[in-house]
Amino acid sequence: MRSVLTGPDLAVAAHYGMMQYHMGWLDENLAPISVPTGKRIRPLLCLLACGAAGGSPESATPAAAGLELLHNFSLIHDDIEDDSATRRHRPTVWKLFGLPLACNAGDGMFSLAHTAFFGLERNDMRADQVLAALRIFNQTCVALTEGQYMDMSFEGLDHVSVPEYFAMIAGKTGALLAATTEIGAVVASAPPEVVAEYRQFGAALGRAFQLRDDILGIWGDEALTGKSAASDILSKKKSLPVLYAMADANVGPQLTRLYAGDLFQATDVPVVLSLLDQAGARAYVEAEVDKTTAEAREALAGVAPQSDAAYLAALGELLDMLAARFS
Ligand code: IPE
Ligand code: IPE
Ligand code: MG
Ligand code: MG
Repeated sequence: MRSVLTGPDLAVAAHYGMMQYHMGWLDENLAPISVPTGKRIRPLLCLLACGAAGGSPESATPAAAGLELLHNFSLIHDDIEDDSATRRHRPTVWKLFGLPLACNAGDGMFSLAHTAFFGLERNDMRADQVLAALRIFNQTCVALTEGQYMDMSFEGLDHVSVPEYFAMIAGKTGALLAATTEIGAVVASAPPEVVAEYRQFGAALGRAFQLRDDILGIWGDEALTGKSAASDILSKKKSLPVLYAMADANVGPQLTRLYAGDLFQATDVPVVLSLLDQAGARAYVEAEVDKTTAEAREALAGVAPQSDAAYLAALGELLDMLAARFS
């Protein structure tokens, strides 16, 4: 990641500096620093899936770097789209450097994610395999922006169905997580039916991951998540806890009216929290996390006969850790 996020000359040093700031390698004056970098679960999933599917994880490192960079590009843009001021305990790129430069830094990182991917060519991968991995990567970028479109457009809708919600999270979060394990298996030259099962695992893990993120987005401890716990409600995000409470016979009508009003503001947040509480929204979504985690575990069991047991066990452990995460 460091090798592609470095500019060729001084005139554009700050362009790369903003990207490196986002990654946690530079401070706000663009001087070297070491601060929280994010969990790095996408590259980890890619490398573990590659090992589990019988490949050498080292051969997948360019893809792992590309996947993490694509994730970080999406966060730079997501923070603009969500009007979020804090990410990983620090001011967001747009908050610090302004919208135009932040947009452009995000675009740079998007392109450099692809640059990293092309490094697969150096690792003796056949051209058709590199192309297969890049095709998945490209489709992932499209699906991610579709999901982001749905996420933002839902803010303005009074009613969003649960199937619409699941289509939205499959795009904004699930597509990239599904791609991590799928691409790991492709790099390992696994047969198509095994590649498909690795994708299923990543997709189910992605659903559980976003459901957990919905919980943290409302009830998370900001000191641990490093991002706001009020902004999902304030921007009228149709996360699953909210949809569940909106469908509740007792509190649903009041919550729906509140969200439909033009004067929704910070003082409404405690009211929303109390309505979510009365509906039992948190327990419902926690049960959904358990359900989707079980689906992911089943997909993993499906590939067990063709997989390396130690890497497979590590994927299982990671799944359980993520289902119970606090950051
Ligand atoms: C945050 O992803 C955005 C979502 C898809 C929910 P992560 O929780 O993986 O973010 P970092 O990289 O660890 O900060
Ligand atoms: C997650 O977006 C998906 C992407 C960044 C593409 P969210 O808006 O749900 O995630 P956070 O809560 O800002 O990390
Ligand atoms: Mg968002
Ligand atoms: Mg966001």
